Amino acid sequence: MSTLIEERHDILRAIYERRAVRAYTAERLSENVIRALLDAAIQAPTAMHVEPWAFVVVQDKVLLKRLSDRAKAILLDDIKAGRELTQDASTKSRLLRTLGDPSFNIFYDAGTLIVICRKHLGPYTEADCWLAAENLMLAACAKDLGTCCIGFAIPVLNEADVKDELKIPDEITAVVPIIVGFPRGAVEPVSRKPSQVLTWIR
Ligand SMILES: Cc1cc2nc3c(=O)[nH]c(=O)nc-3n(C[C@H](O)[C@H](O)[C@H](O)COP(=O)(O)O)c2cc1C
Repeated sequence: MSTLIEERHDILRAIYERRAVRAYTAERLSENVIRALLDAAIQAPTAMHVEPWAFVVVQDKVLLKRLSDRAKAILLDDIKAGRELTQDASTKSRLLRTLGDPSFNIFYDAGTLIVICRKHLGPYTEADCWLAAENLMLAACAKDLGTCCIGFAIPVLNEADVKDELKIPDEITAVVPIIVGFPRGAVEPVSRKPSQVLTWIR
């Protein structure tokens, strides 16, 4: 097999093996590994070559715990005020239970949070950041690291005082929070419904 074919196979393997990892060992990720993940992220396609991304890396567990507690309070307020994350009653009661649990850490005690931020407004800049996120997660998977997007963290990361603390300028928005670390144990695959083709015109 040529190297190119092996690499293509690795890409497919990462696509199929990547899972949302929610349990991590205490081992800390090195700067080199994180820089390699950021480099993979910025290879993503970018509309009109804007490259709108910038990154924040947080490896301070005390800060992560504080952000998690604040994120949970914001989300609970949203749910109680009817600004619901979901219309589904059973998901809503599960969320209320989970977010109300003082021991629940939205970052699952992962040692590293990478936040992909958007520097420029524009029709596709948010999409660019999400494409960079998928690159980062697949690259992490190829290095046997676990990742999980943490949508729960988006509101807190965009609070003015939190942006100040994380040195995110006003005009920059936190778009994709991703936790990264060494998985503790295997993660069961999550099934997908078959791809639904609405139209296929030949
Ligand atoms: C935009 C987005 C936000 C997410 N936010 C969270 C989150 O806040 N907490 C969490 O545990 N998982 C979160 N996830 C992970 C999903 O729950 C997970 O991807 C989904 O259940 C499918 O599982 P898989 O990634 O293992 O295939 C998020 C995923 C995406 C794409």
